[in-house]
Order: sequence, then structure tokens, then C-alpha cells
Amino acid sequence: MTLTSARVSTVVGAAAAELAAAGVASPWHDAEELAAYVLGVPRSRLPLVAGLTAAQLARFGELVGQRASRVPLQHLTGVAGFRRLELAVGPGVFVPRPETELLAGWAVETLARMDAPVVVDLCTGSGAVALAVAQEVPAATVHAVERESLALAWAERNVAALGLPVSLHRGDVADPALLADLAGAVDLVTANPPYVPDGAGVEPEVAEHDPPAALWGGPDGLDVVRAVERAAARLLRPGGLAAVEHADAQGTSVPAAFARTGRWTGVTDHPDLAGRPRFTTARRA
Ligand SMILES: C[S@@+](CC[C@H](N)C(=O)[O-])C[C@H]1O[C@@H](n2cnc3c(N)ncnc32)[C@H](O)[C@@H]1O
Repeated sequence: MTLTSARVSTVVGAAAAELAAAGVASPWHDAEELAAYVLGVPRSRLPLVAGLTAAQLARFGELVGQRASRVPLQHLTGVAGFRRLELAVGPGVFVPRPETELLAGWAVETLARMDAPVVVDLCTGSGAVALAVAQEVPAATVHAVERESLALAWAERNVAALGLPVSLHRGDVADPALLADLAGAVDLVTANPPYVPDGAGVEPEVAEHDPPAALWGGPDGLDVVRAVERAAARLLRPGGLAAVEHADAQGTSVPAAFARTGRWTGVTDHPDLAGRPRFTTARRA
């Protein structure tokens, strides 16, 4: 059975109402994305679709039910957009967030002014930042580090699927021997580490579906940030740069974690588009 295009908008509207009632933050967007996914079209072409078959309608209903139980949208569609990339994601890996695109954008702009730069992305997860840099700065040599096996497997899958030159390394940012052969030779270190203070409240999508290792950062949220600072200080050449994402409540504490070591100059915090503190940059003294 094929329904009319009017019924497409009707079922999307009903789904959006169901998602809103379940507390989903962007119910219309997510209902449209799921409809587009089931129909195999970009969301922008939804108004042009004649209708859903009964099978498509049933599949859409299942997915809306899962989204209403707060499974992340990206786990249902299997992909997350990040700058110009579409990354494969699912259980075991952190879903890349739009705010991290700002840090990646700062990295791209900074690297565009360097000749053949060497970049290390710590805590790479799906590989989002490393892959965006590799795509947008072809002259860069890009390394990426991840400790967790499941996350590393998603990064390997994305590197292979996108065919971009990123060298993946399994490693712990707290290991003083991490990437020892690159010590003092790196131009830019990026990181979006786990930074949620232990015990803080997070949305169900995050609590139940992002890996714990991607979230929790110790009592003040900065345990891994401090390890990133030490690793970056070891890896960077004099004058090299570090860029580290943080929570909006950490716009003072993360710059202080860099400044108090005496290893950095020009420690600067950067706001997101809503004016909230989002990432810190610093230059190796
Ligand atoms: C917030 S996620 C960010 C992932 C990715 N960079 C992004 O922005 O989408 C943090 C990542 O750091 C990894 N991680 C946590 N502790 C680590 C450590 N000590 N060494 C290396 N990776 C670590 C987690 O497994 C997770 O993949």
C-alpha cells in the first residue's frame, strides 16, 4: 500500500509529537531524519516523496519507538555528520557533536598557515577531528590516538571507508611513552577528551549509549584534560599548539590547568556560537 504525500507529513507530525512527549530535544528534526532514512532520501527531499509503503511505515514506527526510548538518532541511522564528513557510529563509540566542529575548524584554519604540519589527535573516538583535518588540510600528516578497543574499531572503519591518510594508534594519553618517536616534533595536538565530572547528570542518550570512557573525567572532570596537557607538552615542538575541548563550566579551570604548569604561552579560551566557553588553545613555550 502506498500512502499519499499528505500522509507523509501526517506521520512525521505524529512522530514528532511522540518524540516531544518522550523528552527528545529536537523532535521535528529527528522525526524528519528518520523518515528520510527509511525512505532513502535526503531530508530536504522529503516534501517531494509521494508516500510510504506499509513496510516503510512499519519500519518508521519501530525507529520512532526506539528514538522515544532515547536511543540516539545517530545509532538508528548509523551515521553522524561532522563538518564535510559522514562518519559511521554505533554502540561503543562517542557520537561526534556539532560543538566539536568548532575545534576542528580552528585546527584547519591554523594548519592552513603551516607547511606540511604534523598533527596528533588525542582521544580520537570515531576519528572525527583527525579525519576532518586530514580531509581539509591535505598537506598535514595526521596521527590519532584512542585507548578503547571498540572505539578504535570504529575509527579504523571510518579511516578505511573514507580513504583519508590518518595513522591510528592504540594508546593511553596518560602513558609517558605515548608516541615517543614524535616527541618534540608535532605542530598541533587536538583533543576532545572525556570531561564530565563524575556523577554529573546527563541526558539518557548520553548516559545509556555513549561509552563511559568517553564521558567521565574524575571528580572535577579534568583528569584526562591534565593528562592531555602533559602529553601535548611532550609531543609539541617549541611554539607548537594545543587545542582542547571542555564543558561550558570549565572555561576558567581548563585554561588554568595549562597556565599553572608554566609550559605554555598565549593560553586562550574560545566560545561557541552561543557564546559559551568551548575550547582552550595554548602555545608550547
Ligand atoms: C568525548 S570522546 C571524543 C571522541 C572524538 N574525539 C570526538 O570528538 O567525537 C573521548 C574519547 O577519548 C577516549 N579516551 C578516554 N580516556 C582516554 C585515554 N586515557 N587515552 C586515550 N583515549 C582515551 C574515549 O574512549 C573516547 O573515545
